[in-house]
Amino acid sequence: MAQARESWKSRGGFIIAAAGSAVGLGNIWRFPYVAGENGGGAFIILYLAIVFTVGFSIFLAEQTIGRAAQRSPAAAFRRLKGGVWPILGYIGVLCAVVILPFYSVIGGWTLGFIWKTVAGTASDAGGFGAFISHGWLPILFHGLFMAATATVVIAGINQGIERWCRILLPGLVILMFVLIIRSVSLSGAEKGIAFFLSPDFSKVTMLTVQAALSQAFFSISVGMGVMITYGSYISRDRSLPGDAAWVVGLDSSFAIMAGLIILPAVFAFGQNPSAGPALTFVTLPQIFSQIPGGIFFGLLFFLMLSVAALTSAISILEVAVAHLGDEHNVSRHKGTIWTGFVLFLVGIPASLSFGPWADITLFGMTIFDLMDFFATKLLLPGGAIGMALFVGWVFWPDAAKSLYAEGEAPPRWAFVWRWMCAIIAPALILWVMIGGF
Ligand code: TRP
Repeated sequence: MAQARESWKSRGGFIIAAAGSAVGLGNIWRFPYVAGENGGGAFIILYLAIVFTVGFSIFLAEQTIGRAAQRSPAAAFRRLKGGVWPILGYIGVLCAVVILPFYSVIGGWTLGFIWKTVAGTASDAGGFGAFISHGWLPILFHGLFMAATATVVIAGINQGIERWCRILLPGLVILMFVLIIRSVSLSGAEKGIAFFLSPDFSKVTMLTVQAALSQAFFSISVGMGVMITYGSYISRDRSLPGDAAWVVGLDSSFAIMAGLIILPAVFAFGQNPSAGPALTFVTLPQIFSQIPGGIFFGLLFFLMLSVAALTSAISILEVAVAHLGDEHNVSRHKGTIWTGFVLFLVGIPASLSFGPWADITLFGMTIFDLMDFFATKLLLPGGAIGMALFVGWVFWPDAAKSLYAEGEAPPRWAFVWRWMCAIIAPALILWVMIGGF
């Protein structure tokens, strides 16, 4: 290892980068409609309860492993324990290989819709379907999105990820505030706000709890070692739980803000809130085409979506690049270019599965759906269970000693965290996994 490991330079560098990772398509594209379908405020309460207990525990577990080992996942587990545990790190890299391509395909759609909004074709009837099934056009945007992701990662931790997240995240907040104000001031917006926020507990079932759990894990980016990797750049004089609470809190706030942009607009225009994924790419452009200054607001919206997706995508690419660096001595430059290029190629079939390759299916799923299913229903929860067990049974009690700055005694509540990791979280996640089938 020729060079000293980089670490977050600014106060809160980790918080900004980790929040950038957490806040993504999951918050803006998925959370509002999942909440809408699952009892609105009741879902939000349940979601918050889960993300601040189980979610927080796993987040802290990853962050602690990374900071203690100062290595990317596979090397971190080898350093702390060895044995079979580094496998968890390889699962994380596999996650990156499966998730980043399909994430980048959707990231490409958001870029495509910036372009379509400006060109005035975003709200054309059937325009979304025509765009994603076009063939090479969405692949081109997927390539652009991947190139943007690689451009940030190649510049490194301080000059790339930290610097860009520091610019993009505050930018995202501003864009979202403008859009919230626009959306809630539409006439008829109250119905949407009520739908989103007022709790309907009759809609809460076991399935709701499972939906909340898997949304929580995806949203705070745990399960594949992003937080191990980002945690490995935290210096030893920092205390971790406060940072973790900040990130989880910021992530939830962004999800709720996204709901306050999307649902009031949808209700004000009498649209169907359970349009699911189409809400963002079909329903909203129609709304933008009907309000004064709609091109401007549409542009802001898709810009916001691209920014959120970009800061998440860089965290996924960083896992693979850091792994190649720590395990195989591949330079950041080479690792980023090759990984970015290969994952661009992997994304091509995923993109084509919305058009020319839509008929290629396995177990009734298209290539895109298979990748999504394999990663989010199997690998991520599996990884999360493994990491929780590691902290609860293997890395304990050193895990507790690693929570605060070097030499400080562990907090008194550390034992709660331990049992969360050792038993409660793994059991809950396993239950969700089984439910997923
Ligand atoms: N959290 C991001 C979102 O909400 C997606 C994401 C980025 C992610 N990195 C991850 C999900 C790692 C799981 C694991 O869109």
